[in-house]
Amino acid sequence: MSVSLLRVLRASKTSPSSTRSPSETVHPLAMIAVYDAPTAALCCDAGADLLLVGDSLGNVVLGFDSTVSVTLEMMLHHLGAVVRGARQSSRNEVPVVADLPFGTYATIADAARNGAALMQAGAHGLKLEGAASSSLDAVRVLTQMGAPVVGHLGFTPQSALVLNGVVQGKTAAAARQLLEDARRLQDAGCVAIVLEAVPSEVAQIVTQQLVITTIGIGAGATCDGQVLVWHDLVGLSSGAPFRFVKRFAQAHETSQDATRAFVEEVHQSTFPTRDNEYSMPDAELALWREEQVR
Ligand code: KIV
Repeated sequence: MSVSLLRVLRASKTSPSSTRSPSETVHPLAMIAVYDAPTAALCCDAGADLLLVGDSLGNVVLGFDSTVSVTLEMMLHHLGAVVRGARQSSRNEVPVVADLPFGTYATIADAARNGAALMQAGAHGLKLEGAASSSLDAVRVLTQMGAPVVGHLGFTPQSALVLNGVVQGKTAAAARQLLEDARRLQDAGCVAIVLEAVPSEVAQIVTQQLVITTIGIGAGATCDGQVLVWHDLVGLSSGAPFRFVKRFAQAHETSQDATRAFVEEVHQSTFPTRDNEYSMPDAELALWREEQVR
């Protein structure tokens, strides 16, 4: 059984408007975007507070160049794997949030139907992007249905084609708009908001002004939590990472070295060795050999 997403989020709120009780441990939340069962289990075992099955799935593991190609079916497939992996971990109470992918919450009916499908597949909360009227309607209907909804502002990959660059909220006017959007999402019922690629000064004010939790990715240290894609944080993704990514390991290099070593050992007939083989019991082996000489 999973700990309530709301309990995890409330315990993280560090702003003066916090409603947390003094006995609750306050530390910024660590959320990790994952797409499969073993990685989900690994992240839970490593202490993650929340998992996200993000639609970054498309770019990170499915080979698309945008999240727009990700469908509900793809999300359901990977969400199922993550939920099973989280349940099998030593900390099987970690809540899993799932992204509603592009085009699945454009109308209230779509949002209700597709959000229900993700919740029925094991999500403990849903995330959607932007604060357009369709997004706000989606937040309202999902909240009324009883699904905790996380908003996503700043750089919103599903609408990357109409955004001007990566970092959002760089002018006073854009920062004001972002704060207004955050308030609208909160009023519509969001339980948290992801702030992606926004100046830390803007994220700080948004975090102070909101009662709900902010989770930053490229939004500075004052957010109530931080989220990174697992492949990025272990250094598994290749190419130059965004400024907001910290690689805590060099998994791409390590994996490539291991793969090269396997190929080389196969080519040189040094793998497998006796240690990697199975044998027949002696009596059966004798019979088998006898059969071969007949
Ligand atoms: O899709 C995703 O992984 C995300 C996070 C990067 C916040 O939305």
